[in-house]
Amino acid sequence: MRGRGGARGNVETLKSLERVLKRRAVTQRMSMSWFAARTMACAMLAAVGRSFSLAPKGRLARPLCAATMDVGVEAPPRLKIKSIVEAEAPESLVGTKTVIKGWARTVRAQKALGFLEVNDGSSFGGLQCVFEGEAALKELKAVSTGCAVAVEGEIVKSGGKQAIELKAETLEIVGGCEEGYPLQKKRHSLEFLRSIAHLRPRTNTLAAAARLRSCLAQATHSFFEQEGFAYVHSPIITASDCEGAGEMFRVTSLSGDALAKAATKENGFEDDFFARSAFLTVSGQLSAETYACAMGDVYTFGPTFRAENSQTSRHLAEFWMIEPEMAFATITEAMDNAEALLKSTISAALDKCGADLKFCDQFYGDKELLDRLTSIATGAPFVRLKYADAVDVLRAEIAKDPSKWQFPDVEFGTDLATEHERWLAETHCGGNCVFVYDYPRTIKSFYMRDNDDGKTVAAFDLLAPGVGELVGGSQREERTDKLEAKMVEFGLDPEDYWWYLDLRKYGSVPHAGYGLGFDRLVCYVSAIENIRDSIPYPRYPGSATF
Ligand code: 4AD
Ligand code: MG
Repeated sequence: MRGRGGARGNVETLKSLERVLKRRAVTQRMSMSWFAARTMACAMLAAVGRSFSLAPKGRLARPLCAATMDVGVEAPPRLKIKSIVEAEAPESLVGTKTVIKGWARTVRAQKALGFLEVNDGSSFGGLQCVFEGEAALKELKAVSTGCAVAVEGEIVKSGGKQAIELKAETLEIVGGCEEGYPLQKKRHSLEFLRSIAHLRPRTNTLAAAARLRSCLAQATHSFFEQEGFAYVHSPIITASDCEGAGEMFRVTSLSGDALAKAATKENGFEDDFFARSAFLTVSGQLSAETYACAMGDVYTFGPTFRAENSQTSRHLAEFWMIEPEMAFATITEAMDNAEALLKSTISAALDKCGADLKFCDQFYGDKELLDRLTSIATGAPFVRLKYADAVDVLRAEIAKDPSKWQFPDVEFGTDLATEHERWLAETHCGGNCVFVYDYPRTIKSFYMRDNDDGKTVAAFDLLAPGVGELVGGSQREERTDKLEAKMVEFGLDPEDYWWYLDLRKYGSVPHAGYGLGFDRLVCYVSAIENIRDSIPYPRYPGSATF
């Protein structure tokens, strides 16, 4: 037996209601998501006593007590917890029947009432499920923190601090949780959580970082789509060292004696898989340049690898980089684009990840994070400062008390250290982001365009408070002779870059681009200090377990 009209009739009623709601939203120029329409339709149907099923795969669970059992009616549609706890008007959901599925965060059983907080990862907040009656409480006793559960029930007004909760009718333990589950209800150090990287996304901090990461990535793609950029997939395996720093991981299919022999001979890797030496890319820039010089504006966004042996809180051996490249563009346009990208992605995070940011603000951001992000997203333009001027202000500051600095020797030609970069952004520029540009040519990469002064290149770094260097970019050297000479000067063999030089021979144009360290952006936006906690599975010297 089914409810009135049968499950099918009910599905149709639900869907046509959704259509009406969506159409009405359009005529009233409101935006309404599919989820919002469904949730509202569910509530309206529940209010007139209609049952329905969108997933007629049979009942999920045994009813908690016979009195609430609705014989023959299949499970109501599952709602993600986000659509309940983050609903704009939670009261409008009261009366909605639903199933939620997730993991038990906390379980409390009192004499007459039991409380189960379920989190399904869709939002920061979990949903409180309330169990009433002896049978229900008995079932709840079998649930412990970490169990996977499905709870069916009705959304009701809550007497607690939340507006609404789920009055549980059925409970299913989808996956029990054995004793020894390491994530009990207490604070764990981020160091400890790295040792259980497979379970740590179930914690508030790592789940918030993961949601922010996802949101920032989506916002990045949206930004470039709006700006008319094409997304280009640059290769992971490459033969060229874009940064010329020799920090590349070798890719080889040789092993044992063959590998040892190849490593000692010149051109020893001729018999290897790619018939030459091959490496994991340190940057997608060179490939992006070739596509920019055909398609105008492009970007790559993918993993990059560096075998630098640094155990800092800002470096990973595998990190993600956003690398736009623009034809017919100068350094100024590259800086403008980087500033717009940052403002746009941060606005998206503020818009869509409010609860996660509020949590980060409290635990990691000294309660200043939200203000800081809002002012970066909507406030004054970023500061732009010539490298030579940055050196002058730093020297003046250091002279006041050199003992306060780990690296007090700063002069034209110094590669600025993190303490210098952070002081420039945090103190000198009052917490704003700052572009430092026109760096000495000797401390930057071979592909950067020489300025006419003979000393500097049209390169910039974007320095952010709390993080230091977030972006590195430049106008590219588009003059063949200058580029070739610089390669030689920097110890690179122009023959290895013949295809890169071709770009300058055939229809060369001024072009510019940059690389934004995506993991550093996640740190900046979340105020989570260590880059190892910004990415699901951090790779750094001595660590690739998971
Ligand atoms: O300044 P970098 O080395 O620039 C390039 O790779 C250029 N080819 C980019 C381009 O112009 N297309 O790196 C760019 C950014 C840095 O500013 C930093 O945010 C990040 O990448 N980065 C790292 N992030 C994490 N771990 C590391 N080891 C990083 N190295 C650089
Ligand atoms: Mg750099």
